[in-house]
Amino acid sequence: MFSIASKMDAYSFLYHKWLDDGTRWYPLIAAYYLTYSCDFCCPYCANGANVPYRHLPNTTVSGQTALKILKRIRRHASHLILTGGEPFMHPDAGLVIRGTSELGFRTVVLTTNGERLPEFLPDIVGNVTDLVVSVDTLNAIKADAWYGKGQGTLDRVLENVEHANRVRAAAKRPFTLTLATVVTPNNIDDVYHVYDYARQRGCRFSASPEQQGVAPPKQLRASDSYRACFDFLLAEKARGGGNTVFPGHRTIRLPRRPQKPKSAQSRIKAGFGGFLEGGMVGDTGFEPVTPSLSS
Ligand SMILES: C[S@@+](CC[C@H](N)C(=O)[O-])C[C@H]1O[C@@H](n2cnc3c(N)ncnc32)[C@H](O)[C@@H]1O
Ligand code: SF4
Repeated sequence: MFSIASKMDAYSFLYHKWLDDGTRWYPLIAAYYLTYSCDFCCPYCANGANVPYRHLPNTTVSGQTALKILKRIRRHASHLILTGGEPFMHPDAGLVIRGTSELGFRTVVLTTNGERLPEFLPDIVGNVTDLVVSVDTLNAIKADAWYGKGQGTLDRVLENVEHANRVRAAAKRPFTLTLATVVTPNNIDDVYHVYDYARQRGCRFSASPEQQGVAPPKQLRASDSYRACFDFLLAEKARGGGNTVFPGHRTIRLPRRPQKPKSAQSRIKAGFGGFLEGGMVGDTGFEPVTPSLSS
């Protein structure tokens, strides 16, 4: 059920959207891209305009500057997603992670490919509330080919997941651990294995369709096995199953060309749908698909 704090967030969002001034809103959740760098090559990786994150111009700012931007965002959003690119490739990733809880975000979600996880677990404990590690398949040959970093990469990522799971179980302020799978026409059968793997370890599981631009590819939408896979996940979610599943296949319709915010202040307030994306120099955008990250 929703806490009083969540209700207050929803109230604030609706108040500013509908009653205060229709041109502005206070987001329910903000996503900050710490860096666009990434040394993985996931074949589906794209930013909503079909550009892989690693090919975006990387205007990374220092950790201190990132924290200043986040402080500004915190005035209007209680929940934060730290993402990238690969956030752990930012040279001050630890500093920023530690700083977010000092800023008082109530939820800090961190999404990662998991390769550098052990180094950052001390920063994560007590500061991150929800850790999300991408795992698209348990097939090592396929995964290693997708990552593009040579044989053994999936094994390392899974070792790191196991390690993180042990750390979270022992932590005084435990964080949730979610395994997140992007469903593409080439890994539908693998989703069941990742789901079982997550379940057996008491982890959460999230599945989202590959987005090409702002929609899943036709091949996926037309696929009976894709439909069956999400029907399975929805049935598991309804069943409870000891785990929470967040199939992220429902898209929120947004205007194709969101209005460009005018000032730094309005950047943090303008937009649609309760989701704000913040870039490294305070640039913002609007997420075409809102992934379900909490129950
Ligand atoms: C952009 S990544 C950044 C964090 C980290 N590098 C990772 O892969 O987890 C955040 C999430 O977006 C997913 N993602 C990337 N490109 C996508 C696409 N075209 N469609 C759907 N999900 C995508 C990734 O798999 C990951 O779960
Ligand atoms: S690890 Fe994340 S950012 Fe890197 S290529 Fe894969 S999806 Fe893209």
